[in-house]
Amino acid sequence: MTREEALDSVRANVENRNLVKHMLATEAIMRALARRFGEDEEEWGLTGLLHDIDVELTEDDMSTHSKLGADIARELGASEKMAHAILCHNKAHGVPRETMLDKALFCADPLTGLIIAGALVRPDKKLDGLEAKSVKKRFKEKSFAAGANREQIEMCRELGLELDEFIELGLEAMKGIAASLGL
Ligand SMILES: [Fe+2]
Repeated sequence: MTREEALDSVRANVENRNLVKHMLATEAIMRALARRFGEDEEEWGLTGLLHDIDVELTEDDMSTHSKLGADIARELGASEKMAHAILCHNKAHGVPRETMLDKALFCADPLTGLIIAGALVRPDKKLDGLEAKSVKKRFKEKSFAAGANREQIEMCRELGLELDEFIELGLEAMKGIAASLGL
């Protein structure tokens, strides 16, 4: 599967442009994490890009979210390792996170929301001037972007990353694709 094929499939399955942007942002962070750990950037990036591909197909029955996504990813040619990471990013299934890839996707997913919200409250609504220290401050405000699960973001420690470094890495990664995110 090429990146283009994965993105075409995401766009075919997900109408909501903000959800597609969420997947692009997750991809960018996953690529940066793969580089940080000397892992396979394509494998990690595509896992991030595809991770919520079933989000609209499962909106009436969230208990199937990520199970269907893992199946769709497999059909597209994703490896078992990638499909497993997608499956266990939804903690509702109780599937343990085993690999670095599983753990990376789990903590990268909510970080995108915190950073996007951090950009949107700026006067220019852009990522460019957003500083890591302000994202860190927002992290501590529990009511800010409350959907971005802080405990889940902090699981970056399971990768051996401190929260500060994770936020910096995620922010830089998302700045790198700011135009695609419209931010
Ligand atoms: Fe997600």
